[in-house]
Amino acid sequence: MNGRLFSMSSDSSNTIESVLQEQRVFLPPKALADKARIGNLTVYKDMVQKAKDDPDSFWGDLARKELKWFKPFDRVLDWSNPPFARWFDGGQTNISFNCLDRHLETSRADKEALIWEGEPGDVRRFTYKELHLEVCRAANALKALGIGKGDLVALYMPMIPEAAIAMLACARIGAPHSVVFGGFSAEALRDRLIDGNAKAVITADGGFRKDKSVPLKPAVDAALGNGACPSVQSVLVVQRINTPTAMQSGRDHWWHELVTDQSSECSAEPMESEDRLFVLYTSGSTGKPKGVVHTTAGYNLWAHLTFKWIFDIREEDIYWCTADVGWITGHSYIVYGPLSNGATSVMYEGAPRPSKPGAFWELIQKHKISIFYTAPTAIRAFMKNGRSVPDQFDMSSLRLLGTVGEPINPEAWMWYREVIGGGLCPVIDTWWQTETGGVMISPLPGATPTKPGSATFPLPGIDADVVDANGNSVKPNEGGYLVIRDPWPGMMRTVHGNEQRFRESYWEYLRPSDGSYIYFAGDGARCDEDGYFWVMGRVDDVINVSGHRLGTMEIESALVSHPAVSEAAVVGRQDELKGESIVAFVTLESGREFNDQLVQDLRAHVGSEIGPIARPDLIKSSDALPKTRSGKIMRRILRALAAGKEVSGDTSTLEDRSVLDKLRG
Ligand code: PRX
Repeated sequence: MNGRLFSMSSDSSNTIESVLQEQRVFLPPKALADKARIGNLTVYKDMVQKAKDDPDSFWGDLARKELKWFKPFDRVLDWSNPPFARWFDGGQTNISFNCLDRHLETSRADKEALIWEGEPGDVRRFTYKELHLEVCRAANALKALGIGKGDLVALYMPMIPEAAIAMLACARIGAPHSVVFGGFSAEALRDRLIDGNAKAVITADGGFRKDKSVPLKPAVDAALGNGACPSVQSVLVVQRINTPTAMQSGRDHWWHELVTDQSSECSAEPMESEDRLFVLYTSGSTGKPKGVVHTTAGYNLWAHLTFKWIFDIREEDIYWCTADVGWITGHSYIVYGPLSNGATSVMYEGAPRPSKPGAFWELIQKHKISIFYTAPTAIRAFMKNGRSVPDQFDMSSLRLLGTVGEPINPEAWMWYREVIGGGLCPVIDTWWQTETGGVMISPLPGATPTKPGSATFPLPGIDADVVDANGNSVKPNEGGYLVIRDPWPGMMRTVHGNEQRFRESYWEYLRPSDGSYIYFAGDGARCDEDGYFWVMGRVDDVINVSGHRLGTMEIESALVSHPAVSEAAVVGRQDELKGESIVAFVTLESGREFNDQLVQDLRAHVGSEIGPIARPDLIKSSDALPKTRSGKIMRRILRALAAGKEVSGDTSTLEDRSVLDKLRG
């Protein structure tokens, strides 16, 4: 650390521009540092050193201290068969027990676990005791449907309390869950049900979105139609929007009929540490999403520890994460991390919308939220609309602001700190992924001086680095691949049903000369001269649109499945609000005409194949695509064209150079 570190005063010369120009660094507020668990960089560095010197006692001590075990583990880490790690072998635990039961013997029994606010303004509150009761009933209902240990249950739900209850109920009986984001299409749901061999689906008649009720159950019916998913035996349906809903007798059951009458006692199943906890699909470089597998104890420990560290959680905190439970952020930081720590977690069904542009700030004021965790896209959208909306609300309850999902530009970081946090709240920029289970690189609010736009340092126990193609560390400020050198408890264990893909995508992409295994995240990054990490975004064929991860090949296969398209190439283009937007180049079948109607049809087609978030923002037609002689599309060229830039670099491998001129024209 160098002498440029200083804390910011409330002096009016601290305009966003001047702060950015001077590259200021913000020290943690003293009051916060004084009572923080990790209150300065010396404590942090000691933890880092301890983890390095003796990882087994570092992780073993934490696991024993932070989680309840039905049976103690015999071994901390088994890394004898890399890249397949086994953590806490021999131990038995249950994450539903750690999130609920263990708090019931303490003063937290009557503390609020979940505060839920529906889009129309209806509120439901659950103490730990009440949530436990609901989860036990739901768990018994699942058992009544014949679901037991090891059976995969898919969730396709709006943001209602039953989504969290269903996750905890599955975990309680040892049935792994596979949550499919409610914005995905019936097609995408079907693929995930088939891949996971799901035995049941939990859904709702619909949910509220942008002041309208939107049905959901018909998509489940479509996904299951024509016997497409024979493994699915039952569908449990929560009534949320009270719309007439077709129910297939014998298969479909209403939640309020089946769950309400169940016993409120259901002991948590002792699970082996490495038993599957959930599968969550995410996009990669191929056309098929990957089922990321997380297991019981390691994931529980990592979600628990990271939540405790990055937010330095306090008993009185009211914490709100705006993510959807359909993504990993919702899993780790709406449900498992907060509840495992006995915190109060707020869940919101809605989003800011024209009728309520201040929806977020209103909720912060109403529930006196102290920790707020959201995405850079949302921050940029608010920033564009100016401070007049947030300025109408009292947000003095806030003490910490978090961000996740995509790189945050320094301007948005500063705006967040100044306008939402009143210049008083540290901004916690957390870098991580579905695969990592929990946060990996992030400031610690009481210890880490922050720089706008940097996720700062790896958490204790995380050996992150930026390397070249041979796995060697690059020099400060040189760009490279972001990697993790050692296993950590929350790491994904495999790709569901595809060990080869797990090896190749993450562990064999970069192989250092000493033959060791290092985890490659798919992101590019640089470390500055002070050791701060600056994540620069994906280096593979994945686009990050508003924090949603989409594979270019997934969108390309959706486009070519339309009868008018013979070939398609999809690239990302920088977007001021969304981070990246989707640009598609299509070659049409002969006799097809490229016009506005077709563009609309193609966008709708991608929407129904994957979901509205995957619809291209711009579709261009081209007689041919730039390819190498071996037939590989040269995306680098398309990326430059989409960005309106000159095509630079070597184009000598292009099969047909005239394609370039046509694309430019
Ligand atoms: O590219 C990185 C970006 O989001 C990717 C992970 O996406 P997903 O698995 O959907 O998980 C999102 C929520 C954890 C990463 O590979 N990303 C996430 N957080 C950040 C980020 N990029 C820069 N800074 C971040 N804080």
